[in-house]
Amino acid sequence: MPKPPRITQKPASPAARLLSWYDLHRRELPWRARAGATADPYHVWLSEIMLQQTTVVAVASYYRAFLARWPTVDALAAAPLDDVLAAWAGLGYYARARNLHRAAQVVATELGGKFPDTAEGLRKLPGVGPYTAGAISAIAFDAREAAVDANAERVLARYFAVEEPLPIAKPKLRTLGQSLVPEKRAGDFAQAVMDLGSLICTPRRPACANCPWTEDCVGRARGIAERLPLKAERAVRPLRRGAAFVASDAKGAVLLIKRAENGLLGGMLQPPLGPWTENFPSAKAAISQAPFAADWRKRAGIVRHGFTHFELEIEVYSTTLSKRPKIEGRWVPQDELRAAALPTVMRKIVAHALDEGGPLFSDRLSKISRA
Ligand code: ADE
Repeated sequence: MPKPPRITQKPASPAARLLSWYDLHRRELPWRARAGATADPYHVWLSEIMLQQTTVVAVASYYRAFLARWPTVDALAAAPLDDVLAAWAGLGYYARARNLHRAAQVVATELGGKFPDTAEGLRKLPGVGPYTAGAISAIAFDAREAAVDANAERVLARYFAVEEPLPIAKPKLRTLGQSLVPEKRAGDFAQAVMDLGSLICTPRRPACANCPWTEDCVGRARGIAERLPLKAERAVRPLRRGAAFVASDAKGAVLLIKRAENGLLGGMLQPPLGPWTENFPSAKAAISQAPFAADWRKRAGIVRHGFTHFELEIEVYSTTLSKRPKIEGRWVPQDELRAAALPTVMRKIVAHALDEGGPLFSDRLSKISRA
């Protein structure tokens, strides 16, 4: 009797297993197209710029507000830069908002309102680096590109048991990520890796039992998954200290001045500040740094803020004036502070100066500043 033919079933590829998992478990996110639908490149680009170093939870309300106000790339390009910067306040790194606006203008005026559909073309836009270009081209155009951000690096370092520390391992992880991208559904694959990193392959206590890659995850087989990726030791960030001067007029309007266009928080608003040095100025030295003579009172506590390359600690002096002095700057009414282009650190300083943070600052912000 002839032997029955042997049915050999090819095991599903890592990409196929991940996509099956994604079809069941994908997150609903405001910028994400419905299953099977194509994402709008403007939506994808806007969300990716906002998500650079900021969490999904923090970005959602900003993303909705931007889209409601500027529904198309042409509308965003036509907006005054100051409006865009003010709407960005709280998302950090204003250079990104400036680049966002410039890139919108490039797309609207030089590219006829259409985003480039390749990673190479997207990289030419201001503010679009290799990761963002990969993510946008994959998600919006299904280009066969990997989107390897910090979450994807963690997933890949574990799956392939890469033991070189970050950032040395970055190019290797990118190549490994690229090697897994399937021919079809590259955009879903990129987003599936993001969801796997967020829902399953978490920094601590990853849920390996529920992972579609658990069987061939080398990090798990070697019992080292949770320790990966290794990171080179970070240099300690230097500490800078200074004083801020928050003046209110009789109606509670706050004096704000514009920072220099170039450099840290360029073009944004702030209360007058003294120089940042190793130590806080003495009360006497602080008074000499104040923008004008007044009854300056030092508030208890300090405001702390972490920048990428240094930590900042600020002591806050405040005063209430019956008459505005003649000084350059804008007196911003309290009910307009929230909409002003005030970066987070400056918001914390103003909140610290106003009793209980003033009605316009969230409880959370005033608590942070008072900590
Ligand atoms: N992080 C970066 N891009 C993302 C996206 N499109 N969805 C979820 N998280 C992300």
